[in-house]
Amino acid sequence: MKVDVVLGLQWGDEGKGKIVDVLAQRYPIVARFQGGPNAGHSLHFEGTSFVLHTIPSGVFRKGTANLIGNGVVFDPIIFREEAEAIEALNVPIRERLVISKKAHLIVPTHRVLDAASEKSKGASKIGSTLKGIGPTYKDKTGREGLRIGDILAADFRDRYEALKAKHISQINNFGFEFNIDEQEKEWFDAIEYLKTFTLVDGEYYINQALGKSLRVLAEGAQGSMLDVDFGSYPFVTSSSTCCAGACIGLGVAPSKIGTVSGIFKAYCTRVGSGPFPTELHDEVGEDLRQKGHEFGATTGRPRRTGWLDLVALKYAIMLNGVDELIMMKADVLDTFETIKVATAYKVDGEITNQVPYDTYATVEPIYKEFKGWKKDLSQIRKEEDLPFEFMTYIRFIEEEVGVPVSIISLGPDREATIIREKIG
Ligand code: IMO
Ligand code: MG
Repeated sequence: MKVDVVLGLQWGDEGKGKIVDVLAQRYPIVARFQGGPNAGHSLHFEGTSFVLHTIPSGVFRKGTANLIGNGVVFDPIIFREEAEAIEALNVPIRERLVISKKAHLIVPTHRVLDAASEKSKGASKIGSTLKGIGPTYKDKTGREGLRIGDILAADFRDRYEALKAKHISQINNFGFEFNIDEQEKEWFDAIEYLKTFTLVDGEYYINQALGKSLRVLAEGAQGSMLDVDFGSYPFVTSSSTCCAGACIGLGVAPSKIGTVSGIFKAYCTRVGSGPFPTELHDEVGEDLRQKGHEFGATTGRPRRTGWLDLVALKYAIMLNGVDELIMMKADVLDTFETIKVATAYKVDGEITNQVPYDTYATVEPIYKEFKGWKKDLSQIRKEEDLPFEFMTYIRFIEEEVGVPVSIISLGPDREATIIREKIG
């Protein structure tokens, strides 16, 4: 068996949580492979809403086991809040969740370092979620981090204190004021709580499952345009959000990757700083924000909004080897007279189909316009009931990018999902 991968093709917030929750019923295992509590994966079902930050989105499906992979950075405090809220819904989370010992721990001073670093950048700040993601990955690649498996070691406290001492000197270099006394206590309590969960060697767990013919669904966080290598550096997150990240973040060989499903919104959003060629600063952008409820699930920040960008989408499809597309939130465009899609960029007077290297380049999108469908899509459950104008829009996208759209999501609820025949 193989690992199928679901990941975001834009700047995050594509709707990964909803889709993983819908697909999880077909998979005995769902695994997160990168990112951490910077993610906010929203699920809506049976009148309940839930935002997951660390725990994979298969946790609400009976019969699905969930793995937090080694590639994830893990904040015990946030994990505890999330896990207790899930337990309060009578979900037997301890039976459904295992955690890789190799995942790195976010310590309170990582969060302080994130804040200190952002403050020092002034207007050129990244717009981080301030969850300590960057500093934790920095310590991981700098070979100084603490891993979940370390919590079982007799000298764990000493190792924590040594890391904290290094952090404090770095924070002092920033001249940043802080106090983590309360957080630290909460963090150590949360470490005790974490010890009551099943900690595993995730790479063996996954490969043994594949050996037993169990299907695995890997759930990406963030989006391809925030990838540390291929996103608009330095306005990116600190992990490999692309498909290759699933191999590293779970310990599976590239030959074990199965279907790659790429999620995109019918328009674009971005939260935080960095280039966004199709961004709208007018009332159309505001309309998208209000109708799409485009406010961060993790930070509550208003998201920047704009038209669908096929140059960026094709780039993400290329990087990930996307086999099928999942289109989200087309219903948000229901009332629009005209819908635009960027098909190319003009950079320094030249027309291009490539995402430019220069993050600071002035990019002018070239648009194709579509007539809006002006119908409520949110109640439609069958493909044949979709309006002609909508089908024209979706067929154009499929032709341009050369990948079929296999799922159309028309609302946040599990039920508002049309699963099409696989065309490819
Ligand atoms: P999900 O999984 C959208 C953005 C932040 C910031 C940049 C770096 O819900 O799609 P970081 O906290 O990682 O140092 O922030 O990345 N960002 C996200 N934007 N959705 C996310 O996750 C994000 N996670 C990080 O806003 O611009
Ligand atoms: Mg989010």
